[in-house]
Amino acid sequence: MEKYLAVRQTSAQLCGPLTVEDHSLQPMPDASPAKWHLAHTTWFFETFVLSEYVAGYRPFQTEFRTLFNSYYNAVGDRPLRTLRHILSRPGLDEVHAYRDYIDEALVHVLSADLAPEALALVTLGLNHEQQHQELIITDVKNGLWTNPLRPAYRPTPEGHETTAAAPALLLEWRSFAGGTHSIGFEGGGFKFDNEGPRHDVYVAPFQLGSRLATNAEYLEFMRDGGYSKAELWLSDGWDSVHNNQWNAPLYWERRNGEWWHYTIEGMKPLPMNEPVCHVSYYEADAFARWAAARLATEFEWEIAARSCAVRGNLLETGVLQPRAVESAQPLAQIFGDVWEWTASAYLPYPNFRPAAGAVGEYNGKFMCNQMVLRGGSCATPQSHIRATYRNFFPPHARWQFMGIRLANGN
Ligand SMILES: [Fe+2]
Repeated sequence: MEKYLAVRQTSAQLCGPLTVEDHSLQPMPDASPAKWHLAHTTWFFETFVLSEYVAGYRPFQTEFRTLFNSYYNAVGDRPLRTLRHILSRPGLDEVHAYRDYIDEALVHVLSADLAPEALALVTLGLNHEQQHQELIITDVKNGLWTNPLRPAYRPTPEGHETTAAAPALLLEWRSFAGGTHSIGFEGGGFKFDNEGPRHDVYVAPFQLGSRLATNAEYLEFMRDGGYSKAELWLSDGWDSVHNNQWNAPLYWERRNGEWWHYTIEGMKPLPMNEPVCHVSYYEADAFARWAAARLATEFEWEIAARSCAVRGNLLETGVLQPRAVESAQPLAQIFGDVWEWTASAYLPYPNFRPAAGAVGEYNGKFMCNQMVLRGGSCATPQSHIRATYRNFFPPHARWQFMGIRLANGN
């Protein structure tokens, strides 16, 4: 119950700095309005828990079942994803009233006897809402950046002003033994269906970079003509560079000969020691090739991450921007800062079976044309991430906090 209320409050808090108009921004089809996120996460609890398991439950408004469905065919129709910004009604106040109504009903049933399968769906709903919390930040960031004024989501908190950047700590290689390793989730607690079944994978000896690639290193790649050397790019990536006229990561801007980037606090001079962020898989792959290295497979990443505690620059730090490494660690920035692109296509593990019922559409049906990212970002809640967690995006996506850790060997 406390966990439920805490997660629900976090979503509302993240929208705290937004104006009413900001809540309706949809700058591109991939990004949804914050108001839609607030409503859709609520819809999840209403549709999959309250309507299914609570006798006599009366929906807040029956039309919302269709209106705030994202992609569940088993639930039925829904508005076009690209048109989520046209939902000026219900207004923001009504969406908050919807949230309050569902929270009251949920708190009531959580204090009574709820079937174990319904409780499991509440837990899934909370993890679902945490995913949307990250999307609230990344979608709002993209929406505000699209405005030529480049308005800030929030002012820079006092004491957080950028200080003169020290050079990044030297990149070192950490070695890992080859052999057969068990991959995937085991033990108690929540996991998404795509994290299992646990299975054996043979991995050759490999090395991982001790930290993420930095803006300075990426700038070196750019200055060396990285975006104009076809031999560095996958064919689809080369097409993306040309079709989208990419010549730098998303949100980078040249002003009077200096590089700036858009952050949640507005435009700032680009700090050279911070991790490079908002790059596509194609850019990560080309950068790695230029650096005479490669990206890790998701299995290598998981083997390495197992030895690391789940802490770092995650949502709870409140920074909402990747940070430079401050002290030498065997593997810095493994959790938090940026999602790390891996060289692995998003595929089912052997013997994968999607969950039963409508929520079986959660992960399995997206296992095509996407790459796996690992480790969470500065917008991921700490209780949401773990070593076996598999995030996935199409290789051209850039608007999430996505970055690069180099790998080497074999
Ligand atoms: Fe969703």
